[in-house]
Amino acid sequence: MDLPQLQPPERLLCGPGPTNVDPAVLDAMRQPMLGHLDPDLHDILLDVVAMLRRVYRMPDGLVLPLHCTGTAGMEAGIANLVEPGDTVIVAQCGFFGRRISEIARRHGAEVVAVEADWGECVSNDALLEALDRHPGARMVAVVHAETSTGVEHALAELGAALRDRDVLLMADCVTSLAGVPLDVGAWGVDFAYACTQKCLAAPPGMSPVAVSERALQRLLARRTPVPFSFDLLLLEKYWIERPVTYHHTAPILGIYALHEALRSVLAEGLEARWQRHADAAQHLQAAVESRGLELLADADHRLAPLTAVRVPAGLDGKSVQTRMLREHGIEIGGGLGPDAPAMWRIGLMGRNASIETADQVLAALDAVLAEEAAPALAG
Ligand SMILES: Cc1ncc(COP(=O)(O)O)c(C=O)c1O
Repeated sequence: MDLPQLQPPERLLCGPGPTNVDPAVLDAMRQPMLGHLDPDLHDILLDVVAMLRRVYRMPDGLVLPLHCTGTAGMEAGIANLVEPGDTVIVAQCGFFGRRISEIARRHGAEVVAVEADWGECVSNDALLEALDRHPGARMVAVVHAETSTGVEHALAELGAALRDRDVLLMADCVTSLAGVPLDVGAWGVDFAYACTQKCLAAPPGMSPVAVSERALQRLLARRTPVPFSFDLLLLEKYWIERPVTYHHTAPILGIYALHEALRSVLAEGLEARWQRHADAAQHLQAAVESRGLELLADADHRLAPLTAVRVPAGLDGKSVQTRMLREHGIEIGGGLGPDAPAMWRIGLMGRNASIETADQVLAALDAVLAEEAAPALAG
């Protein structure tokens, strides 16, 4: 029997994530495999935690990567810090804000959703008003970088406004970590979660989290137990406390990948990396607008790593996406969720955050649109 070889095609991944993995990160995954209880691995774990602290800018509290998706990182925050009957205020202006609400409800929370339209940002004033109406709320949750719309939340300002309030701030930093300015410690974020496949340019499968001292106190005072797999205090006993206590068999090669990804972020420098993402996005967004196309996000809240472009009336957005992939080897995204407006989502993340990559996407888009727009115009 002829067994097929694994031969995935080359792609330039410029959608909402995953992005292309850095070659050095792939090389790290070919390093010798260690067992999860090997003391030499345990030194590597501590190195990962130390680098992650610097990338999150979180000097205290607990920082570690969970072995799970970004969604499960979101669920871990809710599972650890929310108890049945707690009120949670959620900013909803896209797919991932709604997902936070859905997960919080499934954990028994009373969700107060504060909404804005696709492309807009929920204002901090609206969140603070909701908190005034629900002064007993236990958590305010926002998506720092809403990948479904290309909108960035003013997280630093929200953290400052909540500093003296007895409420935790949870932030989805899946598309912001290592791509846009983020200072979890100074901004007073109590639970931040991210993932590896976006601006860190590593493969999917891990969710780095940062937990404040205040959130750890909340965790210690819980009345109900945390699901075993998400229990941050048990995970700390493996990642940080020595001697280690077994919790589960860690994905060793994914940890090597994250180690190399964090090393390359810090070698480049956080500010330089944020600037590179900003420069690439500015170039892309100006070029898109100069072609008469409309950006979805309000000008005041545009995100660098992800640009959402409205599909012009009369064009088949999905067909453009398919031709970009099949004819040019470039992946871009479409709208996420049944009620999303027609859009293309172009991601310039990690090593793809460059003017050269932006130009490559634009050239392919121009070529496809020249053919796709002609029948639409003729019709
Ligand atoms: C803002 C945001 N939050 C959460 C997630 C969920 O991450 P995952 O797909 O790894 O579960 C994503 C994924 O794209 C995202 O963009």
